[in-house]
Amino acid sequence: MDRRGFLATGAAALAAPMAAAAAEAAPPLPAAVAPLKISSLVDLESQAAKVLGEGAYAYISSGSGAEWTIRENRRAFDRYELIPDYLSGRGAPDMRTTLMGIPLDLPVITAPMGGQGVAHATADVGMARGTYASGTLMTMSGAASRTIEEIAAATPGPKWYQLYMPTDAGEARDLLHRARAAGFKAIVFTIDALGPGNSEAVNRTGFNIGPAVARALTETGRPPAPARGETKRFLSWDDLTLVQKESGLPVILKGVLTPELAKRAVERGAAGIQVSNHGGRQTDGLPASLDALPPVAEAVHGRVPVIMDSGIRRGVDVFKALALGADVVAMGRPALYSLALGGELGVKSAYDRMKLEMTLTMTGMGVDRVDQIAAKHVRKLPA
Ligand code: FNR
Repeated sequence: MDRRGFLATGAAALAAPMAAAAAEAAPPLPAAVAPLKISSLVDLESQAAKVLGEGAYAYISSGSGAEWTIRENRRAFDRYELIPDYLSGRGAPDMRTTLMGIPLDLPVITAPMGGQGVAHATADVGMARGTYASGTLMTMSGAASRTIEEIAAATPGPKWYQLYMPTDAGEARDLLHRARAAGFKAIVFTIDALGPGNSEAVNRTGFNIGPAVARALTETGRPPAPARGETKRFLSWDDLTLVQKESGLPVILKGVLTPELAKRAVERGAAGIQVSNHGGRQTDGLPASLDALPPVAEAVHGRVPVIMDSGIRRGVDVFKALALGADVVAMGRPALYSLALGGELGVKSAYDRMKLEMTLTMTGMGVDRVDQIAAKHVRKLPA
């Protein structure tokens, strides 16, 4: 046995009793399928903490380093106040919109999230169904716990596929061809996950998402997932070209935080821009997504849709993001917590709550269509 082999075996021998203890301590995989009574999407985090294992909860909720970016994602919304349009004589709010030809019941979609297998027995399939039942779009994660084909078949609704670029170009081609063959309508190319995040909470619990998903699959009597290759850590514009060529589908660039990058992406044929800091899970210190949004929206200048995510928790957040230039927002953690708590029906409840809050906000603001939400409706508070 060579030195590497010896080290690996030695480490495994040490880790095995710890892993066994962790598995024993972990509660069973959440499997409830029921609607939720939700007073605020913010509450879902503490409720989900009660049904998830400590490690799975840390994996979902935490972010990188000191979690400054996570906190900024929320604080940024507090830096804006709303300016209402009273006596505008408008009728009942209609929050429907269209995103790249796809009709949506509300301007909120489900962000791509890996590791859903540790959140609920139905994993990405439950998320797809709950999202579809809410009249909106799900982006399947490139680190999903179910196959491209299974998730495609879960609902007749349109879906997007998020790509983590494999180091092996052949594997990238295969994934993109499969996504296209399975009927995915666009590719979301994530550019900000260059290696593992640096979550201190995950580190403390010793949680490892790969084996945890494998355990969850076993628990639900499913075959083990095929191994994925390495993800590329150094990306360039050539990678965007490869995704565009090989998929033959519209490509949305996810993780854009600067107007320069957005402008160049549009020039190179990106079909959409997703302003995101990955929910504060990658590089701590990145700006709040909401703060990055206005200059990006200005640079894009309506040529392609702008999607924004990271920190969306309330209907009023959606309103502020739209006023600052987003066409649609994507919801991350609250959707995953609702899946853990109630499966597909939980996800539907989360979207119902979002629709209610948006109705209240739009009514209160005197706005009856999402395309009327404009810069004049928000004002930045003095620093
Ligand atoms: C993510 N996110 C993510 N993004 C992506 O492009 N591919 C992925 O596989 C994942 N995986 C993932 C797992 C988990 C558990 C979370 C919480 C997030 C990031 C996600 O798409 C989105 O950018 C953020 O979640 C948005 O922030 P909020 O809404 O969670 O604050």
